[in-house]
Amino acid sequence: MDPKSFLDQNKQKRLDELFTFLKFPSVSAKSEHKKDVLACAEWLKGHLSEMGIESKIMPTGGHPVVFGSKIGSSEKLTLLYYGHYDVQPPEPLELWKTAPFEPIVDGEYILARGATDDKGQLFTHLKALEAYLATGTELPVNIKLLIEGEEESGAENLANFVKNNTELLKADIVVVSDSSQFGKDQPAVTFGLRGVAFVEVKVTGPNRDLHSGGFGGAVPNPVNELAKIIGAMHDSDGRVLIDGFYDNVQPMTDWEKRQFAQLPFDESELLQSVGCKGFHGEKGYTVYEQVWSRPTLDINGITGGYQGEGGKTIIPSWASCKITMRLVPDQEPGEICDKFEKYVRKICPDYVDFEITKHGGAGAVVVPTEGPWLEAAGRAIKAGFGIEPVYKKEGGSIPVVGTFKSVLGLDTLLLGWGQNGDNAHSPNERFSLIDFERGCYSALALIDELAKVEAG
Ligand code: BES
Ligand code: ZN
Repeated sequence: MDPKSFLDQNKQKRLDELFTFLKFPSVSAKSEHKKDVLACAEWLKGHLSEMGIESKIMPTGGHPVVFGSKIGSSEKLTLLYYGHYDVQPPEPLELWKTAPFEPIVDGEYILARGATDDKGQLFTHLKALEAYLATGTELPVNIKLLIEGEEESGAENLANFVKNNTELLKADIVVVSDSSQFGKDQPAVTFGLRGVAFVEVKVTGPNRDLHSGGFGGAVPNPVNELAKIIGAMHDSDGRVLIDGFYDNVQPMTDWEKRQFAQLPFDESELLQSVGCKGFHGEKGYTVYEQVWSRPTLDINGITGGYQGEGGKTIIPSWASCKITMRLVPDQEPGEICDKFEKYVRKICPDYVDFEITKHGGAGAVVVPTEGPWLEAAGRAIKAGFGIEPVYKKEGGSIPVVGTFKSVLGLDTLLLGWGQNGDNAHSPNERFSLIDFERGCYSALALIDELAKVEAG
């Protein structure tokens, strides 16, 4: 049997196996799920081994990676596949139609946490490789797989892992499916991702919650003060006010502007899908430009004071928030965190006590938009989807992609099979059955297409 027929004949089995993968609550951000993350890694290792890919679990200092390889001859090109087996926390649970770790098929979708980000997308490549191995068809390339367990919580240890394992990870090109298509029935090649920097701010006030009648107006209120700090982050044109924030930001090229302008954009459809009345981004830029090519700052969560039932008249003793800044090329996460801190020190009055925790982050990446790898990827997408891909960027981050370039000197093919509307990081995450299928066939064609590229 040839690999394609193998895919044809194993549609249900493929789905059943993906469901097994999706059932692990491998939430990397939460220590209570540490065991589940490890169990998921163990299962993955076993699954790869059963497929005939030699694999092992390797420590990183945080959640481990699963590394697999199948090396034939040194004459062949080597593909390094990257993906992640961890997922975002599923909360708020009450907004899910069904339990997040009990995958089901709901109409045309697979519904589960991790369905698209990234278990479902990663699985397409595993199943394409299996189609070769199970049919005894010689793989035309050498393959390595690096599957991470903490991408969703910052990938803090993976950069070091890559630095310490350069020989192990030596390859010709990286393949990642952890982004999305441009839209329904419009596959895409992604040529850039934004970076990210994390900070937390905690403002402290009185040594305990105080009566707001007795003390309000005199004692500093940490929630009020934090709100002022947050309010000072942007001007009315949506520009970030941190001193030096835009220092290294290169203006968008005309090519990129034209490229984005060519892509269809339906403002009312997008607004309707997210349930908002209007957009509010940096003035002078289109929505695609704002989310793909401009740096931004967002509060991810804010806590403080009383939020329980009824009222409670207090001056809370503290307030805190978590912030991420999305970065573009040449903005260095550590430097941006420092600038953030300096700015808050500048704007905060002396009577306010606060603490800033800087978590660093990952730089932005841009990958080539032309050349033989890209052409091969384009043909593989055409083979799987029956449609030519368009070129776009993405606003999200995959931290290790920059490390692949800086440490291993490798470019990455960012071939997303999901959709922006698939609810990644949201309740009711999904992956359409047809995108999963087309992803598998594209992944299969990709092996052959990449094998034809001349090394060098
Ligand atoms: N799959 C996403 C990255 C992504 C999102 C690519 C949207 C393209 C479009 C990835 O799993 C992710 O969410 N990454 C995190 C990284 C962060 C925790 C360092 C992100 O972007 O928030
Ligand atoms: Zn992901």
